[in-house]
Amino acid sequence: MPISNSQTIQFLRRGEVVTLNNVPPTRTLLEVLREDLGCTGTKEGCGEGDCGACTVVLGETKGEQLTFKAVNSCIRMAHSVHGLALWTVEDLSPVNAISQHPAQEAMVQCHASQCGFCTPGFVMSLFGMYQNHVLQGETITRERAQTELSGNLCRCTGYRPILEAAQQMASLPTVRLDHPAITRQLAQIQPQTPDVDSPYSAYQMPSTLVELLTARATQPRAQLVAGCTDVGLWVTKLHKQFDTVIDVSRVAELRRIEQHAGSLVIGAAATLQDAFTALLQSWPELNTFAARFAGLPVRNSGTLGGNVANGSPIGDSMPLLIALKSRLVLASVRGEREMPLEDFYTGYRQNLLAADEVLAFIKVPLPASPSQTSLLRAYKISKRYDDDISAVCLVLNLTLQSGVVSDISIGAGGVAATPVRALQTEAALRGHPWTAANLQAAMQTLRAEFEPISDMRASSGYRRQVLGNLLQRFWLESQGEQHINLEALKLEALT
Ligand SMILES: Cc1cc2nc3c(=O)[nH]c(=O)nc-3n(C[C@H](O)[C@H](O)[C@H](O)COP(=O)(O)OP(=O)(O)OC[C@H]3O[C@@H](n4cnc5c(N)ncnc54)[C@H](O)[C@@H]3O)c2cc1C
Ligand code: FES
Ligand code: FES
Repeated sequence: MPISNSQTIQFLRRGEVVTLNNVPPTRTLLEVLREDLGCTGTKEGCGEGDCGACTVVLGETKGEQLTFKAVNSCIRMAHSVHGLALWTVEDLSPVNAISQHPAQEAMVQCHASQCGFCTPGFVMSLFGMYQNHVLQGETITRERAQTELSGNLCRCTGYRPILEAAQQMASLPTVRLDHPAITRQLAQIQPQTPDVDSPYSAYQMPSTLVELLTARATQPRAQLVAGCTDVGLWVTKLHKQFDTVIDVSRVAELRRIEQHAGSLVIGAAATLQDAFTALLQSWPELNTFAARFAGLPVRNSGTLGGNVANGSPIGDSMPLLIALKSRLVLASVRGEREMPLEDFYTGYRQNLLAADEVLAFIKVPLPASPSQTSLLRAYKISKRYDDDISAVCLVLNLTLQSGVVSDISIGAGGVAATPVRALQTEAALRGHPWTAANLQAAMQTLRAEFEPISDMRASSGYRRQVLGNLLQRFWLESQGEQHINLEALKLEALT
C-alpha cells in the first residue's frame, strides 16, 4: 500500500481553492477528479496519455503572465497540480448558465461529436487553444488545429468537423477569464516546502536546485519524476507504487532556457514544448519533427530532461541532441560534471547518473553563423504519423566547404540498446567530397554500423534498410530538387 502524505494539495478551481489531504504520492489527477471529487466529465480512455479523453487545462502564473496548458490527467500525479489553477470540462461555463463556452458551442455548431466519449477531451484542448491563440488575436489555421489536437483521438465523428470547430471559436462571442483575480488567488497558495526529515513528505516538490540536490542526497532511493509522461505509465499500466517521490518540475533553475557562451542551455525540467520552441528559433527546419513528438498535452507536461534521463533507445530528442553535439550537466551536492550526451548511456536504459545526482542542464551549441552550406535534417519513421513513437529516428547535421564534408554529426534512435552516434559513418564521410558515390558507400557503412533488434515496431532488417534510405534521402535533399538526377545516381551507384 502506498503511504499517505501529510502534505496538503491545494489548487484553484471555479474561483475557489480546493484542499486535499492524505493523497498518496502516486494517485493520479484523474483518480482524484473522478473518484474523490466526483468530476466524471473528464473521461478515462487509454490511461496512458495516448487518447486525450482525460485532457484538463492547467493555469500557472509566470511573472505577470498566466499561462495555460492542456495536459493528460491520467498520467499526471495529483500532487503536481499544487499551486496551479485547474479547469475540467465542467468548469468552462458558470453553473446553470444557458450559454456555453466557445470551445463547447463551436463543437455543437460544427456537429463535431457523435458518441461523445472523446468530446470533453477535445473541448479542453480547444479551451487551451482559445486561451493561447484566439484571445491573443492569433488565427487558428487548420494546420495549427491539427498539430494541437493530435493528442486527442476520436473513433467515430471524423476529424473534419472537429478541426472546423477549432477554427469556428474565433467567430463566437468572446469569453474572458478574470486573470488578475486568478493570479491573486494563486499567490495565496503557499508552495509545498520539502521536509526531508519527515517520513511523511512522500511527494516532494523542491523549488530551487539546492533544495532538489539536498533532497536527492538525503533520499537517493526516492523516485525522481518530472512531467511523469513516462513514469505515469509505470503507475497506471505496471501498477508500480512509490513510497517517496521527488518532483523536479518546479525547480526554478531547471525550468529556465538561456543562451550562454555560444550555447542554448536548457534546464532539464523545461517542458518539451518550451524546449522545442527555443530550438526552433535557431533551427526552424525542425518544425515538423517537433510537432511529431507525442501530442501537445504530452509535450506540455513531459520535459527534455525526462526524455534524456529515461534513456529509451527510441526516444526522439536524443538523436537530435547528439547530432547537435549537445552536452549534459549532471549535478549533486558534490558539484557538477559535464559530458557529451552520447557518453551518458552505459546500456539499455542505464546511464552514468550516481544515486545522488540529477540531470540539471542540456547544453546545445548554437550555430556559429548562418551558413548556406550547413544542413540539418531530423527524420522520424513511425507506424502512425502523429503521436507515435519512432521505429527509427535519424538526425544528420552536415557542413560542406567547397563540396567537401568538413563536418558531419549523426544521431540515431531505434537501432541499438541506447540512442547512438554514428561515428563510423561520420568518419566515412568527413573530409570527402559530398558525391553520390561516396554517399552510397556511407549508406553501406551506416547499415552495418549497428545491430538493431526486431520488435513490434519493426524488424531488424527493416531498420537497417531504412537507415541507409534516410541517408540517401538526406543526400537528395541536400542537392535541391532541381539537381536531383535519379538516373545519374543509379549509374554512380552501379560503378
Ligand atoms: C502518449 C505518449 C507519447 C509519447 N511520444 C513520444 C515521442 O514521440 N517521442 C519520445 O521520445 N517520447 C515520447 N513519449 C515518452 C515521454 O513523453 C518522454 O520520454 C518525455 O520526455 C519524458 O519526460 P517526463 O518529464 O515526462 O519524464 P518522467 O516520466 O517524469 O521521468 C522519466 C524518467 O526520467 C527520470 N528523470 C526525469 N527528470 C530527471 C532529471 N532532471 N534528472 C534525472 N532523472 C530524471 C525519471 O526518474 C524517470 O526515470 C511519449 C509518451 C506518451 C505518454
Ligand atoms: S485516458 Fe487516454 S490520454 Fe488519458
Ligand atoms: S465522438 Fe465518439 S469517439 Fe469521438
